[in-house]
Amino acid sequence: MKLLIATTNRGKLGEVRSLLAGAPFELVTLEDVGAAAPEETGTTFAENAALKANAGARHARLWTLGDDSGLCVDALDGRPGLASARYDTTEERRREKLLRELADVPAERRDAHFFCALSLVAPDGKSWATTGRCDGKIAFAARGTQGFGYDPLFELPDGRTLAELSADDKNRISHRGRAFAEMVRAMLQIPELTGRSAAW
Ligand code: IMP
Repeated sequence: MKLLIATTNRGKLGEVRSLLAGAPFELVTLEDVGAAAPEETGTTFAENAALKANAGARHARLWTLGDDSGLCVDALDGRPGLASARYDTTEERRREKLLRELADVPAERRDAHFFCALSLVAPDGKSWATTGRCDGKIAFAARGTQGFGYDPLFELPDGRTLAELSADDKNRISHRGRAFAEMVRAMLQIPELTGRSAAW
């Protein structure tokens, strides 16, 4: 069965592929079905995830998963938040801007979290939603080469940044990994998706 992943972000797509490895789906992308990503006009991560999944499902008439995620920094009142992908023009510039904005903020006030909302929409419009969160701090300089986006700046309680983790280790603890674990549990309860087999 085809499952449309409603994202154009390559970093996310790579993670989604390994998070769903072993599931009986042929993963297809917006590019594969000739659809554009809709404008993210929602006021919450969950609204934007639903917007992406609904648009994909309507366009392709396929089961569709939408993900909306971002980085929320306490000292910036939750910014960049919903605007994480638009905070500046490139990933490198976004990281530099964040470091600049936090230049005078001491370690004890650099708390942040990543948040991920997932929305699964069936071709008939029925939907399921899950969320996941990962807590940490913003480092004073980028470290690590794995992952994508803000990963080199996101320090975990053990001192490593998300970009210093292997892909599997990141998936075990990340906002996206947690939202997917819950979504997979929900998907296993949907007979149309599992073909009544409870094991994948
Ligand atoms: P959107 O969900 O496509 O609107 O974009 C989310 C943005 O948040 C990405 O472009 C990244 O900048 C950031 N982001 C989301 N998840 C992660 C992650 O796991 N690591 C690093 N950055 C992330």
